[in-house]
Amino acid sequence: MTVAKPIPHDSARLHVTGEALYTDDIPLPPGTVHLAFGLSDIAAGTLDALDLAEVLSAPGVVLALTAEDLERDADCSPSAHDEPLLSTGEIHYLGQPLFLVAATSHRAARRAARLAHPKTTARTPILSVDDALAANSRFEDGPRIWQKGDPATAIAEAEHRIEGEIEIGGQEHFYLEGQAALALPQEGGEMLIHCSTQHPNEIQHKVAHALGLPMHAVRVETRRMGGGFGGKESQGNALAIACALVARRTGRPAKMRYDRDDDMVITGKRHDFRIRYRAGFDSTGRLQGVEFLHLCRCGWAQDLSLPVADRAMLHADNAYHLPNVRIESHRLKTNTQSATAFRGFGGPQGMVGIERVMDHAAHALGLDPLELRQRNYYTEATGGQSASFSASAATTPETTPSDEVDLASRGAASSVPPGAPPAVPADTQTTPHHQPVEDFVLHDLTARLRDSAGYADRRDAVARWNADTPRLKRGLALTPVKFGISFTLTHLNQAGALVHVYQDGSVRMNHGGTEMGQGLFQKVAQVAAARFGLPLEAVKITATDTGKVPNTSATAASSGSDLNGMAVAAACDEIAGRIAALLAERHQADPAQVRFADGRVHVGGESLSFKEAVTLAYEARVSLSATGFYATPELSWDRIRGRGRPFYYFAYGAALTEVVVDALSGEYRLLRTDILHDCGRSLNPALDLGQIEGGFVQGAGWLTTEELVWDDEGRLRTHAPSTYKIPACSDRPEVFNVALYDNENREETIFRSKAVGEPPFMLGISAFLALSDAISAFGPGYPALDAPATPERVLAAIERVRNA
Ligand code: MTE
Ligand code: MOS
Repeated sequence: MTVAKPIPHDSARLHVTGEALYTDDIPLPPGTVHLAFGLSDIAAGTLDALDLAEVLSAPGVVLALTAEDLERDADCSPSAHDEPLLSTGEIHYLGQPLFLVAATSHRAARRAARLAHPKTTARTPILSVDDALAANSRFEDGPRIWQKGDPATAIAEAEHRIEGEIEIGGQEHFYLEGQAALALPQEGGEMLIHCSTQHPNEIQHKVAHALGLPMHAVRVETRRMGGGFGGKESQGNALAIACALVARRTGRPAKMRYDRDDDMVITGKRHDFRIRYRAGFDSTGRLQGVEFLHLCRCGWAQDLSLPVADRAMLHADNAYHLPNVRIESHRLKTNTQSATAFRGFGGPQGMVGIERVMDHAAHALGLDPLELRQRNYYTEATGGQSASFSASAATTPETTPSDEVDLASRGAASSVPPGAPPAVPADTQTTPHHQPVEDFVLHDLTARLRDSAGYADRRDAVARWNADTPRLKRGLALTPVKFGISFTLTHLNQAGALVHVYQDGSVRMNHGGTEMGQGLFQKVAQVAAARFGLPLEAVKITATDTGKVPNTSATAASSGSDLNGMAVAAACDEIAGRIAALLAERHQADPAQVRFADGRVHVGGESLSFKEAVTLAYEARVSLSATGFYATPELSWDRIRGRGRPFYYFAYGAALTEVVVDALSGEYRLLRTDILHDCGRSLNPALDLGQIEGGFVQGAGWLTTEELVWDDEGRLRTHAPSTYKIPACSDRPEVFNVALYDNENREETIFRSKAVGEPPFMLGISAFLALSDAISAFGPGYPALDAPATPERVLAAIERVRNA
C-alpha cells in the first residue's frame, strides 16, 4: 500500500531543478502591470496630505491610488475588519502602505513608490510592552484569565518558591519565496487570482469584498508556496486585493511581489512575549502551584492575535500536570507590524514559559532537570491504548499497515462514531483547560531517548569536561513537547475534496489543503492511491482551487493531512463503493467483500484490473466523480472560560541537545541533537523526518540567532538577511539523530497518523535550555537567559552567573 512509505516529495525534482512554478514564475500575459506600495516612514500619527504628482510622472507609471480613490473599503483583516489596505488617515506603524503604484515593470513601480511626499503629523508611538501597558493599549477589554485550583495558596504553602521573568523575541518567517499575487481580469468583471497563500478561501472572500462581488465571481488558485510557516495565512491578503483592484480599474493583469526588505518591513511576524512566573515546589521537585503572566505584543491590528494568545495559554502546561495554575494573558496593541500566525501559533511561547520554570526550579533545588521534569509529567492514563513501539529510521519503516483496504474498514476512516464518547478513566489528569490527557506517551518516549542518547553518561562527561575547561563550557538539555492538534476555532476543523476517476483508470484529486513544502500533496495522494489500491503514479496532484472545493480553512494548525486526508479518503470511498456495488451485483457477491489492491479489484474469488472495473462502471452509467467531506469529531471549546476539548489529540516528542559556549565571545555551537518524535503511524516517514529536522532547526533559530530589532522610532532595523540571522546549514547540530516514535494514534485519524507540521518546532527549546545549562557552569547564579540567546545575551548571562 502507498501509505507509511518514505516516498520523496512529489516536487522534489522540480524544486532542485528550478522547474517548479511559483506565483512569480507564471508566464504573464502582455500588458501586465506591476504593483508596489508606498510606505509610511513614521510609526504613529496622521496622514494629512499625499502629493503623488512626482509618482505619477515617473517612467512607466500607469496608475497610483490612495484610500480616497477606492470606491469601497478594501479591508485585509482576517478577523476584526481593522486593516484598511491603504491608510485612511491614521498611521499605525512604520512600513504601513499609504498608497499603491502600478507601473509597466516591477522596478519602475518600486522606484516611483519612493517619490511621494506624504505630509504627516507624528505622534509618540506605542512600541514596547511597557509602552502599551502604560497606555492601556490592548485588544479585548482586559486580560483573559484562566484558573484551575488555588495557585496562590499552593505557592504560599510550598517548601520552595521561585519567581522570574523571561523575554521571548518574535521571529520573521523568512519563507524563501516572498509574498506574491497575480490578478487576471475575466469576462463580466470576474477575477482569477494566483496567490502564494495558505488560505485561498480567505483571499477569495477578501477580494470579493473589495470588489463588491459575490464569492462565486472570484476564483483563487495556488499550486504551491516556497514556504509559508503561518506567514501566508493572512499576510497575502493585501497583495491579492491590491492586484484585483488595479486589474478591475485598468482591465489589465496585475502582479505584485514584495522584495525581501519590503516583505520584512510590511508583514507581521511571530508575537514576542514577556512572561512572568511564580511557582511553588516541594523538595522532591514536584510542582505545587504556578502563576503565569503573559504580556503579548500584537502589533497594530488584531489579525490572529486572540487565538494565538489563547494557544500560548493552552500550552502553558506543556507536558506537565499543573494541579494549581493561573494564567493571565494581555494582548497588547502597539505601533508595529501586526504580529500573526507562525509555526506553533503561540504554543511555543507558552511552552517556553513552563520549560523555563522547570529549568529554574531544577537549578534552585539542585536537582537534575530531566528528573524534575519527569516527576511532573502527566500520568499515563489507565485503560488507554498501549503504544506499540519501533524507533525506526525513515528508510526502514517497520510497520506497514496491511497491504489491502477492504470496504468493511472504509467506514471507520470517514464517519463519526455514533453515541457518546468513551468514558474517561477516573485517574486521568486534566490540562489547565480541563481536557483529559488520555494519550500521554512521554514517560516511555523520554526514557527511550534518554537511553539511546546516553543522557546519564553524557551528564557526567559534561561535568568532567567543564571542570577542566575554564573558558569553554558544555551544556545539555532534554525537553519534551506535547502539542494540541486542531484549530481552536472549532468550526475551522472541516475539509472538502473532489476526486475524479477517468475512463483509463487514472485519478485526479483536489482538496482544500495548500502545499508549502511540507509534503501535504504527496501524503494526500498516497491516501487516495491507498484507498483505490493503485500505484501512486495513477493519482494526479492538482493546484488548490476555490472553484473546486469551497469554504476551506487555512492550511494551518498542522491539520492539513488530518483533515484533507480524511476528506479525500471519503471521496475515494464513495466512488469505490459505487464500483463495488456494481461488481458485487454482477458477481452476486457481498459489496463489503470487494477489495481494491495491487491495481486490481477483487470480487467473489475473481479479479479484474482497476481500469476494467472503471470501464464497466462507466458503461453502466455509474458516476466516477465524488466530493468528500470531513469534520473532526468530539471537539467543544469555550475560549472565554478556558474549558473544554479544543484538541482532538496531542502529538509528542522530545529532544536532547548538547552545546558548547565560549566565555570570551559568548559564541556557541550546537554539538549534537537527538530527537524522538511521535507522528502516530506515519503516513510518510521521509516527509515526517524532514518536518522534524526543519522544525527543530527553525525553533532553535528562533531562540538563538534570530533577533528582531526596532529602533526608538519604530523602524525595523533587521529587515534583510544581512542583519537578521536565520540558521545556515553550518548551524545545524554537528551530530543530528532523528527517529520516529511509532505510536498508532488512539483517535481515528487518517491511517492512525498524527499531525507533524508544528510540534517539532518546539523541540528547539532544548537548544535554548542547553545554552542555559552551559552558562550555569560558569558560576553559582541562575542564567535567567532571555531569547533569542544571541552571543551578546549569552555573554551578559555569563557575567550574571559569575557575579551572583
Ligand atoms: N514545512 C515547510 N517546508 N514549509 C512551511 O511553510 N509550515 C508549517 C509546517 N511545516 C511549513 C512547514 C506550518 S506553520 C504548518 S501549520 C504546517 O506545516 C501546515 O501544513 P500541514 O497542516 O500540512 O502540516
Ligand atoms: Mo501554521 S502557524 O498553523 O500556519
